[in-house]
Amino acid sequence: MRKSRVLVVGGTGYLGKRLVNASLAQGHVTYVLHRPEIGVDIEKLQMLLSFKAQGARLAEGSFNDHRSLVNAVKLVDVVICAISGVHVRSHNILEQLKLVEAMKEAGNVKRFLPSEFGTDPARMGDAMEPGRVTFDDKMVVRKAIEEAGISFTYVSANCFAGYFLGGLCQPGKITPSKDSVLLLGEANHKVIYVDEDDIATYTIKTIDDPRTLNKTLYLRPPKNILSQREVVEIWEKLIGKVLEKSAMSKEDFLTMMKGQNYAEQVGLSHYYHVCYEGCLANFEIGEGGEEASKLYPELPRKSQSTDWIEAILRNLIHQGMCYCLPMAMGVEKIKVMEEEACSWTIEGLRGRLLAERVKSRTAKEQVEHLEKRLTELQGQLAIESESRDTAEMKLKWLTQKMKSLNGNGSSSSSTASSDLNLQEKRSLGFHFDDNVEVCPDMTSSLIMSTAHEEDPSS
Ligand SMILES: NC(=O)c1ccc[n+]([C@@H]2O[C@H](COP(=O)([O-])OP(=O)(O)OC[C@H]3O[C@@H](n4cnc5c(N)ncnc54)[C@H](OP(=O)(O)O)[C@@H]3O)[C@@H](O)[C@H]2O)c1
Repeated sequence: MRKSRVLVVGGTGYLGKRLVNASLAQGHVTYVLHRPEIGVDIEKLQMLLSFKAQGARLAEGSFNDHRSLVNAVKLVDVVICAISGVHVRSHNILEQLKLVEAMKEAGNVKRFLPSEFGTDPARMGDAMEPGRVTFDDKMVVRKAIEEAGISFTYVSANCFAGYFLGGLCQPGKITPSKDSVLLLGEANHKVIYVDEDDIATYTIKTIDDPRTLNKTLYLRPPKNILSQREVVEIWEKLIGKVLEKSAMSKEDFLTMMKGQNYAEQVGLSHYYHVCYEGCLANFEIGEGGEEASKLYPELPRKSQSTDWIEAILRNLIHQGMCYCLPMAMGVEKIKVMEEEACSWTIEGLRGRLLAERVKSRTAKEQVEHLEKRLTELQGQLAIESESRDTAEMKLKWLTQKMKSLNGNGSSSSSTASSDLNLQEKRSLGFHFDDNVEVCPDMTSSLIMSTAHEEDPSS
């Protein structure tokens, strides 16, 4: 049987380039979509040229030009799309609807493999916001494919090893530390790590396989299924050292997640489903699916034992790509890296969460302190106001007394006091004996104040 001719869309991408290589390696006539939109991206151009040098053919086409897409898909039997779908990089999954339209019109494509290569979106109907956008968009594309009557294979590749393994399954880390690790909860849920070259190999292997036509191909090589703890143990064995471990509860993880930007939240919510819920391995593959390592037991070698995991991690040591080795880069570089990493590594996020908590505790204490101080000041103010009122009344009484002394030459407390109301009189110490008003002795105040005015030395 003639091998299918293949068009890889998104061929210069992280997974796309591996798909091109695997397609060429397995002897398929391989086209790579060359989009004019790459502009002056010299690295993409050079990559396309290197594909060409290996025997690939370039098919010019743009997502903004329907006709060009129709012409490109007419060249082949199978279309594989690896357009971007990781928010921290870029996310263009729905662009594939244009590709579906082109295939519908062209009518020659025997099988389409859309850009999936992760968690099976059909199982993620209850996924949380905002990360569910990835699954929802991939489901929109599936619906369009099926409604257009295009044959398909969906590849559920689980976790790309590069993203998940090197960082010991810690979000935001792609290299391991020789000192510490943050465990996500109990860290016992099984995660499925698949080497990206193996994903490409399995994907190309399946395109002419009738057993996977209109089905989902799950990549679950048994030796690739490990919990975060098990990965950490492999790493500890390699470096001959037990890491310092801390754990983040799911509640803390969710709280920390809310403080991040949109793209980071999308990624973190995927980690949540994988590591706190075990969404990759907690189901049996049903009738609509096949498992890759069962269909292709001879392939690929890397996925046959945990040796490859050790090899990936050992390679990171050899390449100086674990945390305690980057001294050669210079302190400044490390600082920048740490600051960058801090923006969304779990430790960074955890630190920020703790800092926020400390800040809010401090703010609460400050508020309590201020409230106490305010009450004290209000009390003092009341006392001061009372003294001021009393002093004003004394002044009023004394002024009237002075006036009456100046006026008729006789001292009459009762005359001076007659202008004061009852409450004012009481607060000045007036009292009543047998209904006779008795005034307080304020002569001393008068004498004191007069003496004060007369004696400049006082
Ligand atoms: N399971 C996992 O752990 C995991 C991890 C990462 C990714 N994935 C999945 O794998 C798939 C591929 O992701 P990736 O990380 O390999 O993608 P990527 O490298 O970010 O991008 C792939 C390619 O998409 C094309 N592209 C980007 N923006 C475009 C636009 N605006 N219009 C048209 N084409 C555009 C480009 O190809 P050209 O310039 O060559 O046309 C780019 O090289 C996605 O479905 C993603 O969700 C899964």
